Amino acid sequence: MRGRGHAPVNIALCKYWGKRDKELNLPVTSSLSMSMTGLGATTEIRPCAGTHDRITLNGQEVDPSQAFASRLSAYLHLFRPTGISFEVDTTSDVPVGAGLASSAAGFAAIVLALNDLFGWELDPPSLSILARLGSGSACRSIHSGFVEWQAGERADGMDSYATPLSEEWPELMIGWLPLSTDEKPISSREAMLRTVETSRLYTAWPEQVANDLAIIKQAITDHSLEALGPAVESNALAMHATMWAAWPPVNYWLPETLAVLQQVWKLRAEGLALYFTMDAGPNVKLIYQKQDQPTIRQAFPEIHI
Ligand code: PMV
Repeated sequence: MRGRGHAPVNIALCKYWGKRDKELNLPVTSSLSMSMTGLGATTEIRPCAGTHDRITLNGQEVDPSQAFASRLSAYLHLFRPTGISFEVDTTSDVPVGAGLASSAAGFAAIVLALNDLFGWELDPPSLSILARLGSGSACRSIHSGFVEWQAGERADGMDSYATPLSEEWPELMIGWLPLSTDEKPISSREAMLRTVETSRLYTAWPEQVANDLAIIKQAITDHSLEALGPAVESNALAMHATMWAAWPPVNYWLPETLAVLQQVWKLRAEGLALYFTMDAGPNVKLIYQKQDQPTIRQAFPEIHI
């Protein structure tokens, strides 16, 4: 008896930053992402005898005391029949804990694997809600393409889940620059809490998101990178600004991060339609159109597309 699930990494174009309920991972605002086909997590799960879960990541057994294993075991506890442990085997295409959305793909994959194992046959909103309990952004990784996570209003979170947009935009490209794969200095969970509690700039965030979300959705419908890019880039910078204004400040940037941003701004000033976004880590994701791929590869040879 075993279950299997695969889910893509998703990169937010309009970010989720801040919770209204930290147990249920209910967000303050809605958010919108793009799933990356071909990059994700694949998980197999089997019930087993024994007193603790056996977790394997990319072929290596993970010590149960490590954060990755204890977080996963705590999550599995929500679904665990009495006296049952699990053997979990996960393969992740992106480094774990480096702000590359590995936990989003990971928790979505585990929910799909549990659904398969227990034969739940859950509908997509229910799968999205269960993934959200593992990691907020994971609720978007249940779907491919463009995905919107509605913040919802209910205290029990039953209206807070992700749904796919019907629009497609095959020419839109996203690539990431691996500046560092070290584990982040502070988890996004902790950084969000600190920002909401101490950053005065956070009061401006919901309005920023409402504006950006409307522009980004329209830009996707219109296939307009000229409209999408500025909203996506400014949304990411505004999110980081709320962190810098927290106390103690939250900084995920490396000197190399700023160097890349300056290179993007320089190339754009020279006429290239190139924009960036960033998450809770130093790595930069580039957004551009397929026709510019050769130029981008030349300017950033280390890019993963
Ligand atoms: O789901 P979490 O707790 O890993 O938070 C993710 C937050 C960001 O990646 C920074 C933004 C987002 O919307 O994915």
